[in-house]
Amino acid sequence: MLEKIKQTADYIRAKVTEVPDTAIILGTGLGALVDHISDKQFIPYSEIPNFPVSTVEGHSGNLIFGKLGNRPVIAMQGRFHYYEGYDMKQVTFPVRVMKALGVKTLYVSNAAGGMNKEFRVGDIMIITDHINLFPENPLRGKNYEELGPRFPAMTEAYSHELIALADKVAADKGIRVMHGVYVGTPGPTFETPAEYEYFRVIGGDAVGMSTVPEVIVANHAGIKVFGVSVITDLGGKDVTDVPTHEEVQLAAQKAQPYMMEIIKEMLAR
Ligand code: HPA
Repeated sequence: MLEKIKQTADYIRAKVTEVPDTAIILGTGLGALVDHISDKQFIPYSEIPNFPVSTVEGHSGNLIFGKLGNRPVIAMQGRFHYYEGYDMKQVTFPVRVMKALGVKTLYVSNAAGGMNKEFRVGDIMIITDHINLFPENPLRGKNYEELGPRFPAMTEAYSHELIALADKVAADKGIRVMHGVYVGTPGPTFETPAEYEYFRVIGGDAVGMSTVPEVIVANHAGIKVFGVSVITDLGGKDVTDVPTHEEVQLAAQKAQPYMMEIIKEMLAR
């Protein structure tokens, strides 16, 4: 594993003019943020040694280097989901590579279903914490001390400092943002009404099929995390709407300019 990480990081370092200390993972329907990155350099995942290839509609697979909010960034356009059949080590491999490249801060975004009764479709939820309901933890197995500790704390999995900054930016720009706990599930089924209800009762505000593995590995690696969910559908006991992938993508696309403005301004500050 260490050798693979090094090989991939070396390959990327040799290709790009500048290696940024900030990375962004773009979730379902949120890939257009890439249009706002200037001086872009694309590396398709298929060309990167040891990288898996993204398979799902709505997720193009590119690593993009460029400037956002005048700051150099790496963006992952498309991520690897557990439901695609990748194991946890593959899902989180890009985060290991980011760390090897010198990344210190990771911005993660996703589309999520809202259980919090105050949420509306199109809301932006700043992730304050998460609940891991994946059947496996990406850190299971041999621990490499070079990568991080055996038993990492998850007390501040999402940086309080970055949450405060996001709140300030959103208030200054008049963008409605909610706060909440993200429940990470394996998917690919959306939830039954009883499951949405269950996730709400255990303390969740939104649910999705990603993010948690990457955030666990980022924390293990000592990378600071900022996470944001776009609420693309609502679920619960009394909700009869049937979510579809198309609807999720559409709702994410509509909310994405606001998310983009927040992230861009956070970077600029
Ligand atoms: N459930 C799980 N994942 C999701 C949802 C949802 O309702 N919406 C977008 N991703």
